[in-house]
Amino acid sequence: MKDGTDWQYSDIVKDHFFHPRNVLLRDPKPGEFDAEGVVGAPACGDVMRMWVKLAPLGGVDGVKIKKLKWRTFGCASAIASTSIFSEMVTKNGGLTIEQALKITPQDIVKELGGLPKIKIHCSILADQAFKEAIKNYKKPDVS
Ligand code: FES
Repeated sequence: MKDGTDWQYSDIVKDHFFHPRNVLLRDPKPGEFDAEGVVGAPACGDVMRMWVKLAPLGGVDGVKIKKLKWRTFGCASAIASTSIFSEMVTKNGGLTIEQALKITPQDIVKELGGLPKIKIHCSILADQAFKEAIKNYKKPDVS
């Protein structure tokens, strides 16, 4: 794992940058997702949009993440971070919302095999967009 003091990207970062998972380049169809989160990064002005499809588990088990798609006007680190985050929350049938909310930007950076220190804020974009989407899901539009 890189110590973050140089500009070397790990092979995992490169793989996710060149082959991003779960990107949605078109606009979503009506009803395709249950929630959307849009955030900007104050450090650089980049923007992340994320869409989440949820599936109820029934009983007290809550809701799991069936599908997570995203699109960004962001850098390579933002693309790699969000790509790997989308895999982390949807693998093995999907995490519950509660499990996914526990994933931190540090977890994302660790999963990527490290990021240059100056690019750490890019991993926060994925985390914040997800939290924003879940916040919007919990407050459905009743207008
Ligand atoms: Fe803006 Fe990375 S520099 S998201």
